[in-house]
Amino acid sequence: MLITPRRDNLNKIVILNPKGGCGKSTLATNIAASYAQSGPTPAIMDYDPQGSTTAWLERRPEELPEIHGIVAYKKTMQATRSWQLRVPNDTVNLLVDSPASINHDDLRELTRDSTSILVPVLPSSMDIHAASRCIADLLLVAKVDRRDRKLAVVANRTRKNTKSFAKLMRFLDSLGIPIIAVLRDSQNFVRSAEEGMGICEMQPSRVKPDVAEMNKIIDWLNAWPQRRRDPAAITSINGKSTVGRSILRRPRFGSA
Ligand SMILES: Nc1ncnc2c1ncn2[C@@H]1O[C@H](COP(=O)(O)OP(=O)(O)OP(=O)(O)O)[C@@H](O)[C@H]1O
Ligand SMILES: [Mg+2]
Repeated sequence: MLITPRRDNLNKIVILNPKGGCGKSTLATNIAASYAQSGPTPAIMDYDPQGSTTAWLERRPEELPEIHGIVAYKKTMQATRSWQLRVPNDTVNLLVDSPASINHDDLRELTRDSTSILVPVLPSSMDIHAASRCIADLLLVAKVDRRDRKLAVVANRTRKNTKSFAKLMRFLDSLGIPIIAVLRDSQNFVRSAEEGMGICEMQPSRVKPDVAEMNKIIDWLNAWPQRRRDPAAITSINGKSTVGRSILRRPRFGSA
């Protein structure tokens, strides 16, 4: 399925959760926009047949910094697969947006050589349950090694100080997975999707809290070389390193 080049300096960020609508494309586009602002030109690889990130790139205003798009969900007869999926040599940050449903082989391929894996989670019982299966698959099927500390959760469309947020925290605590940011439910994200922009490219006074949370994600992503070497370098909202207790322990779910 996927043939991304092995390159030591490639920061390959995979965003996945088979649960539809949890915010994968929103995260991919907003992280890409942040990297585009700081440079060099990042790339987005779009594996979702819905083509959401590709469509977002097409809507992107010309005057904004460039983001390279790779349409991975289409198979073309005109070029070899590796040519179609080639990542420009000068790309440092590669975002991989994944589809809602994904089989085990694709999960292994998508996450191979990744430096970071982000799982966006919405705070409902059903979403938390789906996220627990996703994280279990990452650890047991894709053999993501906790010692690499590359796996983190972003709580999306969430308010802190709510029962559902507390439940999400308890669940992630039981798995030892860090929550690195909490994105609120905001029309800013809807507008940024419609306009081909990242929230960091919108009017600063409207998006301040959203940009602050996105910056936490960027800081965590940029720390990937240190994360591997030094667990103390990790900061997260629930104070977790990715080395935690066994995923095989059944998480407890409270009421919604
Ligand atoms: N924090 C947020 N606040 C408000 N709306 C949001 C937020 N995050 C995502 N959305 C909206 O929720 C919808 C689903 O988000 P998105 O497309 O990013 O999810 P997805 O996981 O990529 O979905 P799919 O599984 O279908 O690919 C979109 O309309 C998006 O604009
Ligand atoms: Mg999507």
